[in-house]
Amino acid sequence: MARVLLGVSGGIAAYKALETARLAVKAGHAVRVIQTDASVRFVGTASFQAITGAPVLLSELEPDPARGAYPGEAVPDRAPISHLALVERADVYLIAPASANTLAKLAHGLADNLLTTAALAAECPVVVAPAMNGRMYEHPATQANLRLLADRDVMVIPPGEGDLASHGEHGVGRMPEPSELLAACEAVLESGASPRPLSGLRVLVTAGGTREPIDSVRYIGNRSSGRMGVALAREAARRGADVTLIAANVALATPPVVRVIEVRSAAELGDACEREFPGCDVLLMAAAVADFRPAAPVAHKLKKDVGPVPTIELEPTDDVLSALAAARRPGQVLVGFAAEHGEDALEHARAKRRRKGLDAVVVNDISRSDIGFDVSENEVTVVTAAGERRVPRTSKSRVAATVLDVVQGLRAAGAQRADSKEAADGAVGATAGRGTRV
Ligand SMILES: Cc1cc2nc3c(=O)[nH]c(=O)nc-3n(C[C@H](O)[C@H](O)[C@H](O)COP(=O)(O)O)c2cc1C
Repeated sequence: MARVLLGVSGGIAAYKALETARLAVKAGHAVRVIQTDASVRFVGTASFQAITGAPVLLSELEPDPARGAYPGEAVPDRAPISHLALVERADVYLIAPASANTLAKLAHGLADNLLTTAALAAECPVVVAPAMNGRMYEHPATQANLRLLADRDVMVIPPGEGDLASHGEHGVGRMPEPSELLAACEAVLESGASPRPLSGLRVLVTAGGTREPIDSVRYIGNRSSGRMGVALAREAARRGADVTLIAANVALATPPVVRVIEVRSAAELGDACEREFPGCDVLLMAAAVADFRPAAPVAHKLKKDVGPVPTIELEPTDDVLSALAAARRPGQVLVGFAAEHGEDALEHARAKRRRKGLDAVVVNDISRSDIGFDVSENEVTVVTAAGERRVPRTSKSRVAATVLDVVQGLRAAGAQRADSKEAADGAVGATAGRGTRV
């Protein structure tokens, strides 16, 4: 079963989108629908709502009554902050019919309605099914737009040839039948292996930067915004994991399905980790946790003009990650993050992985201002015992995808090791058994 987001734009073939939705629901998929205003003139929202069992969205400005949930899922307690919750969690985004107008917007990155805005934010495969009058389809503008989309890995399901809606016209532009659209989506989903490879897994992510109080209003903090951790939480949820995010002073929108625990200081983060860690399968420790804190924070505000300028004495905080690593149970995967300066960054990360007993360390060079803290891009190296994987400068969501690919690899390798150990133990047991009998 997959989450299918269906975008419907304005054209005669919108009636076929109803049947596409019906077939997808019948095949066991959870379907949500976004319509353009023009499409509602062809097929009303009530029909899609009845077929999918979920509200249809038209505009990014209207709240989603289902709060980003797909049919069959619990509606979250809180409404998602983002109007993009549906596309963030989709396994495939099918836009059918895709009008000439919508195709042009998609090709040029316009985002003037929810359908096109969602397409810009889509990280899942996007499939478009153009449907229009033959002359519109063959116009160089439409053809150039389709080439642009195909170059960007959007899957275009070419229209068929035959009688067109305009009276007496015959030509290219007919949208393929709903069963073909569904088959194309399912092929896309299958080619990407399982759309939800982390289904059933509990992933604990920490994000943001801790703040250590000096007095009742001041603190020692760091520049971490939480973007990397939120990207990891989003990607893990998209892959089907049950995700808990321990967020230290994060002011970003979080995916609606992710359970969020808000913390402020390193001690609060440590407590939350201690509670949540035993129940998780994977820990992604992306938060920037203070190494030192004021030894004697005061409960009131220190006054500027009373007495001498205060001196702040620091004491070390507890090493949360090392403590968790020491308490790990077999099968848990632990990933640390290291923000290091300059040339020795990689060597430090290797040492950190060994010293703390981690499965992987994701290291980035914080001597550069264009990547890392409080920006949307990063460039990292993922260090494991088996080797190193460099991710050249890219969006934090792509970095998150690579980190989770590595986690999946580590889990697969762990399962293989456990299988061979079991086989070896079985062989020893069998030998011992035979020995006893003799
Ligand atoms: C009766 C009728 C049929 C239409 N059929 C199509 C069509 O099949 N394909 C298309 O690209 N545009 C078609 N249009 C034009 C679109 O509805 C129009 O370009 C609209 O702006 C599309 O908006 P949207 O892309 O936001 O849905 C049709 C218009 C009318 C009035």
